[in-house]
Amino acid sequence: MSRSLLAAILCLLAKDGDGYGIYQNRIPNGDSVPSPCNPNVIWRGVGHLNAQGGGIRNKFGLDFAAAGHTWTRELCQKDSDEDGKTNGQELGDPDCTWTPNSLPPLDTGLSHPAVCEPIDSETCKSKAQEGGLYLKQEEWIADACKSGTFECPATNAADVERLTFQIPPTKVPNKVTSYMCQTFRVDDVSRDRHMIATRAIINNTNVMHHMVLFGCRDPNTPIFDVPYECGMSPGYSCGSILSVWTLGLDGECFYDLSGIRVGLNGLKVLAMQYHWNNPTQEDNYMDSSGMEMYFTPNLRDYDSGVAMFGQESILIPPYSTGTDVTGECTETCMNTMVKGQGINITYAFNHMHYLGVSQSVEQHRNGQFLRNITNDVVYNYDSPRTYQFEPPLEVLPGDRIVTKCHYKSPKRGITTFYGDETLDEMCYIFFTYYPFQNMPSPFCLAHDEWVYCDPATRKGCQQDDIGKFFTGFNNTELYQNITTRCEHFSPCITECKEAILTARASDPCLADPASWRILSNSLASSPDFNTFRAHLASCQVELYLEEHPTTSPATKSPSECECSSGATDNAATSTLPSGAETTSRAPDNAATSTLPSGAETTSRAPDNAATDNPTTTKSPSECECSSGATDNAATSTLPSGAETTSRAPDNAATDNPTSNCGAANNQATTKATCECDDSSGAVGNEANSLLAKFAVALICLVLLKG
Ligand SMILES: *[C@@H]1O[C@H](CO)[C@@H](O)[C@H](O)[C@H]1NC(C)=O
Ligand SMILES: *[C@@H]1O[C@H](CO)[C@@H](O)[C@H](O)[C@H]1NC(C)=O
Ligand SMILES: *[C@@H]1O[C@H](CO)[C@@H](O)[C@H](O)[C@H]1NC(C)=O
Ligand SMILES: *[C@@H]1O[C@H](CO)[C@@H](O)[C@H](O)[C@H]1NC(C)=O
Ligand SMILES: *[C@@H]1O[C@H](CO)[C@@H](O)[C@H](O)[C@H]1NC(C)=O
Repeated sequence: MSRSLLAAILCLLAKDGDGYGIYQNRIPNGDSVPSPCNPNVIWRGVGHLNAQGGGIRNKFGLDFAAAGHTWTRELCQKDSDEDGKTNGQELGDPDCTWTPNSLPPLDTGLSHPAVCEPIDSETCKSKAQEGGLYLKQEEWIADACKSGTFECPATNAADVERLTFQIPPTKVPNKVTSYMCQTFRVDDVSRDRHMIATRAIINNTNVMHHMVLFGCRDPNTPIFDVPYECGMSPGYSCGSILSVWTLGLDGECFYDLSGIRVGLNGLKVLAMQYHWNNPTQEDNYMDSSGMEMYFTPNLRDYDSGVAMFGQESILIPPYSTGTDVTGECTETCMNTMVKGQGINITYAFNHMHYLGVSQSVEQHRNGQFLRNITNDVVYNYDSPRTYQFEPPLEVLPGDRIVTKCHYKSPKRGITTFYGDETLDEMCYIFFTYYPFQNMPSPFCLAHDEWVYCDPATRKGCQQDDIGKFFTGFNNTELYQNITTRCEHFSPCITECKEAILTARASDPCLADPASWRILSNSLASSPDFNTFRAHLASCQVELYLEEHPTTSPATKSPSECECSSGATDNAATSTLPSGAETTSRAPDNAATSTLPSGAETTSRAPDNAATDNPTTTKSPSECECSSGATDNAATSTLPSGAETTSRAPDNAATDNPTSNCGAANNQATTKATCECDDSSGAVGNEANSLLAKFAVALICLVLLKG
């Protein structure tokens, strides 16, 4: 759980866009363009929709990028916002004579080159906007004018106390992405206070991209005087996200009935994490950013908490035109997690990385859709949309929460998996709720069809069965049985095979392919576990073949077996090496064969889908040529893939014949039969050998032609 949490945090940080300051000196007066909302406020990200920079570009930003991020005469003479003034006139270079590192010809009378002014005129209000977030300039400006100012009336109350935390001026490494963390103590732990707001203090706008404030459960967490490089999580026990600042946000004003408890009976140690982005790898940047935190000793009615729900198994194929990932927090989970009168959600935001295009989170009650908690029709990592609920959204025990993420990877030629890194993906919602006591363990994370908190999704492999794999595994009978009777990566001997079969018969985690794969994934760095798997591996192929008597390593075109009208509903798609078919998939009995990372997942048949890898074993589709092969879907992915979302609800078997011992027990329940249901009656031939299969294929072809 904490691993996931840490991972999630990262993701909050993972990004590789531009700091918002680096382009300022490439245009005249780039650091002093006034906001059209308030002439006393600087619009720092001149090329972005977001006044703070980052994220989607505005019209001027698009033109600037098209000009190669240089101030060309053409760019200067253009009127990007179509308000009658050229970009040069707006930025104090009316004759287009300015060059970088020189003084601009004018430094007064400046205006925004992407905002049609006056903003109140009807023409300007209705100006169409690119970028997808807003249709009209009016909507964009309304949003933009909200940001850049921190409004939280509660922070002005007389009883409010402030704690400012900033790192000491620290050298920013000359690399693109750095994560730094520093732990610090709450200034007064002799009493309880509620944290009610946070506000970012940005020191170096060239590099600051994200800050995350974490709570550390352990009051004895070590405290450091200077930040340490931390990867994507602060480590120690600092696992709860309390507040997030990212480009485009100013601060966070917590819901007025609740706060995060700090002090005597609350958090005593906090950690701040910084994501610095230094795309030009400057060597002379310093930063001392931080946050101002606001506390009240007059406790509010409720303690609040921050929850994290989502899916941690993601596979986005290369060049995907659309991949869906869904994480379910089932009724069972929500019955266990949510107590008493339930909780109220006051604040939420979605979280994916760069391939995310849209995300929504649904709440269901009594089997009925109740509402979308969030719905980002256009998701943009750099311009996160936050949701504030007034009145708050009530969530009751037994509700069902479904997190739906949609991705595209039009430019990426490799498969993308779940993970912390920028090039990995995530699918989470974070939400703030109260009372904390009604949901003290606020994590509901799915891993494929497994949801940690719902025993029914775990096919018998329960928490109690799992513990032994994590600690003291090498002392268990299971470990001893296998490692003494099998030799790692050796030829398979009968004794070993029998030991594996015995072990499987008694261990539900070993017996269920999906469970085994998920477990293997979470134990990937355990030496004992890997030793165990290496021993299992010696009989992996033999057991697999024994359980799939019709399997053979030969690869054969699926068309060889398409021999009857049945073929119309037994679509077999064999793609090699990275193809992905999507659209014309048959609704039933579809077999997708991909190597090594291929198929895309969205239009997966709801039932009886089979995904296979033709080099390791034969494709189940090789001989599926009639509608007879209706059941028993097999999903076989290599090397670590697993499709996640539209997973067939029935008859799905997940297999990985080459990469883990799970294969030993993972019977893809495929019927690799070559049934020709042509009316002339050549039916149901079980092809047990390559020869037989060829023979059948031949007959099939003859029948087909005849
Ligand atoms: C950043 O911090 C340094 C050192 O504390 C300070 O001299 C400088 O004025 C700060 N800059 C901003 C923009 O706050
Ligand atoms: C949630 O808020 C509603 C009002 O919006 C209130 O009636 C309800 O009691 C609250 N639930 C909890 C658990 O505080
Ligand atoms: C909920 O979100 C989904 C996904 O964006 C959308 O299709 C649907 O219309 C939304 N439903 C409501 C009631 O807003
Ligand atoms: C089991 O593993 C632990 C640490 O992983 C090691 O210290 C111990 O010696 C191992 N025991 C055996 C019997 O291999
Ligand atoms: C270990 O092997 C013994 C002897 O074959 C068998 O009785 C026992 O059930 C096995 N235990 C496990 C966990 O496989």
